[in-house]
Amino acid sequence: MENNIYLEREERTLWFREARFGMFIHWGLYAIPALGEWIRSQKNITIEEYEKYFNEFNPKNYNPKEYAKLAKRAGMKYAVMTAKHHDGFCLFDSKYTTYKSTNTKCKRDLIKEYVEAFRGEGIKVGLYYSLLDWHHEDYPAYGDRHHPMRNNEEFKYKTHKFENYVNYFHNQVRELLTNYGKIDIMWFDFSYDDMTGERWQATKLMKMVRDLQPHIIVDNRLDDKKNIKKANLSPYTGDFDSPEQIIPPKGVVDENGNKVPWEACITLNNNWGYSAFDKDFKSSKQIVRALVECVSKNGNLILNVGPDANGEIPKESSDILEEVGNWMKYNGESIYKCQASMYEKPEWGRYTQNEKNLYCHIYDRGIGYLNLNNLRDKVEFATLLKDGSEIEIDFPWMAEEFVKDAFLNLKTSKLPDEIDTVIKLKLI
Ligand code: GLC
Repeated sequence: MENNIYLEREERTLWFREARFGMFIHWGLYAIPALGEWIRSQKNITIEEYEKYFNEFNPKNYNPKEYAKLAKRAGMKYAVMTAKHHDGFCLFDSKYTTYKSTNTKCKRDLIKEYVEAFRGEGIKVGLYYSLLDWHHEDYPAYGDRHHPMRNNEEFKYKTHKFENYVNYFHNQVRELLTNYGKIDIMWFDFSYDDMTGERWQATKLMKMVRDLQPHIIVDNRLDDKKNIKKANLSPYTGDFDSPEQIIPPKGVVDENGNKVPWEACITLNNNWGYSAFDKDFKSSKQIVRALVECVSKNGNLILNVGPDANGEIPKESSDILEEVGNWMKYNGESIYKCQASMYEKPEWGRYTQNEKNLYCHIYDRGIGYLNLNNLRDKVEFATLLKDGSEIEIDFPWMAEEFVKDAFLNLKTSKLPDEIDTVIKLKLI
C-alpha cells in the first residue's frame, strides 16, 4: 500500500482504534413483524403487503436519550444507527423519497434525534446506510440474489434504470452528511456479486463523502470486503474491516503485513433487527470476553441492539449492557487505547497492552501462583485494576526451575471477578 494512504488511514482511525467499543442500532419497520430485518426477502413480501407496517409505524416510546445513556453506562464510545436498511425505509427526513419516518404517524426525524442524543452524551455518531434497496423501483429485482421479488414472474420484464437508483442513494448520502452535523462513521452495507465498487459509482461517492466530512471513517463494504487486505487500496476500499458474527482468529493484516483497523459486529441474540421470538441472548461474560478478545487482536467490537416497534431496547439487551458496564466501570482502562500485546497469549486468559501497561485478563484461576511467561525481571509493579490493591510478584520455591518467568501471588483460590479479573502490570 502506498505509504500516504496507509498513514492517512492510521491518522483518521486513531480515535476509533482507541475507542474500541460501540453500539450498533438496527431499527425500522421490520420491528413490527418482529422477525428480524430480512423478513421481506425471507418471505418474499411485496411492497404492497409491507405497506401496512409503514402505515402502522408509531414508536411512541422512542427516546434515543435513553439509548445514549445506556450506551454510556455500558462504556461504549461510539454508535452506528440504521438510517436506511435493505427495505428502503428512511429513518430520516429525505427530500428524495416519501418512504420516510417523517411521513409515518410519528412524523419524526429519528436520525436527527439519535445524533443529537448521542452527541449529548459525548458519544461519537455513525450512520449505517444500506446499498441494497428493495423499495426503490430502479433497484434490480427479478433474478437478484437477495431482492424479495427475485423469483416473482411479474418482475421478470420490469426495466430498472439503475443510474437513477445510484443518483438517489448518492443524494441521500449527501443529505445525511450535510444536514446532521459532524458524522464520525459511515457504515455502508453491502456489496455482492457484480453489485460492488464502481457499480455503486463508489469513487464518486467517496469523493463526496470525504469532501463533506473529511475526518469521517468508512467501513469496507462499498467494495468486495476482502480488498481491504490487498496491498493496493482503491478510494472506496474503506478504513476498517467489518468481520460479522466472528472474531478473526489472528486479527487483520494486509498483504504487506500492515495492521488493518477492524471492528467485529456482533448481535446480542441472533438477529440485528428486533425479533420477538429470539431469546438466545449471550451472557455479559461472553460479551466482556469478546470485547477483550477483539482488543487483544487490535480490533473493535460493535454490539447490536434491536429496538422493538415501540422504540424500546429489549430488557434482555439492556440488562446485559448494564452488567458489561459494571465491568467496564472498573476495567475500561484495559480496553480503551489498548491493543495486542508483544507477549504470547497466556494459558489463563488474554493480554491487552497500552505501552508500558500490560493488562492480564484472567479467566482461569488454575491453582497456586499465576505464571507470567517470559516476564522475569520485566514487571515493576502489579495491581488489581478494580481497586488498585497491590498484587505480589513472586519467584516461589516450587517454581524455581522456571527462570524466565515471573509469578503472581493471587492469595485466594477464587478469582475476584469470574467474568474477567484484570491485573495491571507496570512493565520496566
Ligand atoms: C448483514 C445483514 C444486515 C446487517 C449487517 C450488519 O449485512 O444483511 O441485515 O445490517 O449484516 O453487519
